[in-house]
Amino acid sequence: MSDIKKAIIPIAGLGTRLLPLSKAVPKEFLPLADKSTIQYLLEEARASGIQEVVFVVSAGKQREISSYFNPSQKLEKFLQDKKKEDILEELNQLKELSKSITFSFATQKEPLGDGHAVLQAKRYLQEPCGVFFADDVVDAKTPCLTQLLEVFQTCQKPVIALKKLPKEKLPHYGVVGVEKIASRLYKIKEIVEKPAVDSAPSDLAIVGRYVITPEVFEFLKNTPRNEKGEIILAQALKNMIQSGKTVYGYEIEGEWLECGDKLRWMKSNLYFSLHHPSYGEELRKFLKETKNL
Ligand code: UTP
Repeated sequence: MSDIKKAIIPIAGLGTRLLPLSKAVPKEFLPLADKSTIQYLLEEARASGIQEVVFVVSAGKQREISSYFNPSQKLEKFLQDKKKEDILEELNQLKELSKSITFSFATQKEPLGDGHAVLQAKRYLQEPCGVFFADDVVDAKTPCLTQLLEVFQTCQKPVIALKKLPKEKLPHYGVVGVEKIASRLYKIKEIVEKPAVDSAPSDLAIVGRYVITPEVFEFLKNTPRNEKGEIILAQALKNMIQSGKTVYGYEIEGEWLECGDKLRWMKSNLYFSLHHPSYGEELRKFLKETKNL
């Protein structure tokens, strides 16, 4: 087990790509099969040994997190009285999950970028920590954060999760230039945001999962806003590399399921639905039998 016990989950973004749905349902609460995205992230955090999560929230989101994760005695009693044991069991699993992790909250008053959001959590963290972007769920035998923590244990430097993508997809992602160190492990040489197909420095894209050190906060503080007026974590890491600091990248094992826009979220929802232990088989049958598909 790693020494890292804390993680930041910034959830103060506006989720504009998922409008109008995200007006009423914050994107972290959209379902992937029958669980919210945020539940997958917390399950990964717990499985990676995280004991405290600092959520960076915009107005109102702390209440939404609490109402999803805090147990409701009234609801539990209702389900007990109605003998709805299976639903009660699902709620118990959620209760166990939230009992195993302490929640803290930092506020981001304005959506000034993912890096600005991470910086708001600084007062809770004097030590290295994990970072989860809520757009990215990874289905893996070894939890994604655990994979990064194993790298951190030996290198004690920031680590970025990476995934190989087909060339034509790279212009939609942050892409890294690298020096290979070992199987799946790279020293990052440069970070290029949304490169043109022919100028991508490699086929390795950045996944929203990181291990960061306190030094990253110092670079975030000094990272200027970009043309959209935002402070971006990847830019702060790029500045670190340019000033001679070492940042590692690890090509994670597992399936990267994205949820940041409608098509990606629909694909991820389909993936988890079709793999669902109770409903997957029936859903596959439905797809085969439905004539108009
Ligand atoms: P995204 O890049 O997906 O931005 O954020 P977004 O604002 O949520 O969504 P769009 O682009 O408008 O559709 C990546 C992660 O960083 C958080 C998001 O909540 C998400 O977990 N974030 C982003 C913040 O907490 N604050 C911000 O200002 C921006």
